[in-house]
Amino acid sequence: MKFSSSVLSFPDRGHWGQSKYRGNCSGHVIKGFWETYHKRKGGLACDPSIGGGTSVDVAREMGLRFIGTDLHQGFNLLLDDFKSHLGEEAHTCFWHPAYADMIQYSGNMWGEPNKWDMSRMAMGEFTEALELAIMNIHDAVEKGGHYGILMGNLRRNGEYYNLSSLVERVSPGKLVDEIIKVQHNCVSDSRQYAGNIVRIAHEKLIILRKDKDSLFFLGTVEKRAAAMTGITWRAAIRRVLQGGKVMHIKEIEALVEPYARTTRNNNVDAKVRQVVQDARYFERVSPGTYRLAA
Ligand SMILES: C[S@@+](CC[C@H](N)C(=O)[O-])C[C@H]1O[C@@H](n2cnc3c(N)ncnc32)[C@H](O)[C@@H]1O
Repeated sequence: MKFSSSVLSFPDRGHWGQSKYRGNCSGHVIKGFWETYHKRKGGLACDPSIGGGTSVDVAREMGLRFIGTDLHQGFNLLLDDFKSHLGEEAHTCFWHPAYADMIQYSGNMWGEPNKWDMSRMAMGEFTEALELAIMNIHDAVEKGGHYGILMGNLRRNGEYYNLSSLVERVSPGKLVDEIIKVQHNCVSDSRQYAGNIVRIAHEKLIILRKDKDSLFFLGTVEKRAAAMTGITWRAAIRRVLQGGKVMHIKEIEALVEPYARTTRNNNVDAKVRQVVQDARYFERVSPGTYRLAA
């Protein structure tokens, strides 16, 4: 059935794939993904990390033309070009990556420990691998085609890692839908947590549509970051003036110093002077002295 709302809950994972493959996902999710976004009859569907084969079974049952693989089949999203592996551009791609090291795959679910296994990476390395893998997937999809990435969040030593937000941030393409999937039957369900810990009981399926190639997207990210820096400077200065304060530029500079130190722009004086010229937000009270414009 097509997705009819942005929240999914399937207490029974269905008969597809292997329930013993740890971290496997419900075939209902993959079926719903294809029923909703696989619109071109005869178009290729794919999954670069099939794990226990859930997507393989769903695709077969739905009669889709499908190519699935995994690191355990010798295909590596971090070294190999996925489009070349497919031999054509895919119409849709479903990807369910490891949630960092929540469950280790190589040396556990299959074979020997493998250094390219994304479930064996430290968080920094995993973040970069995720960005690279998603660009590879994006570039394997045809223009106008869709890819869906199912990702969960995790807590490590009291830190919350929002991996699903990370997917959204680094994914090229247009965000089409964000679907919350309620988790059932997790190992963590039976775990007792000390203190006031909220158990993470959802995953997110993020759906993107291919627009331009991924390397164009990287350029957009840079531009967005540059624009964001301008906005952040203004927000910082507005913040220190809140509460009806009237300040000389020198005082403003001193107060925004902790922020200024973290940016690449070392010329704080010039930056503050430039930002306070914006009459939409700042009012000059006397030479060099400003307050927020009401
Ligand atoms: C969460 S599991 C997928 C489970 C699958 N959806 C299922 O229902 O059984 C993640 C998979 O990513 C694979 N993987 C890890 N690193 C990879 C890489 N570099 N390239 C391709 N696949 C990788 C793992 O072998 C594992 O099977």
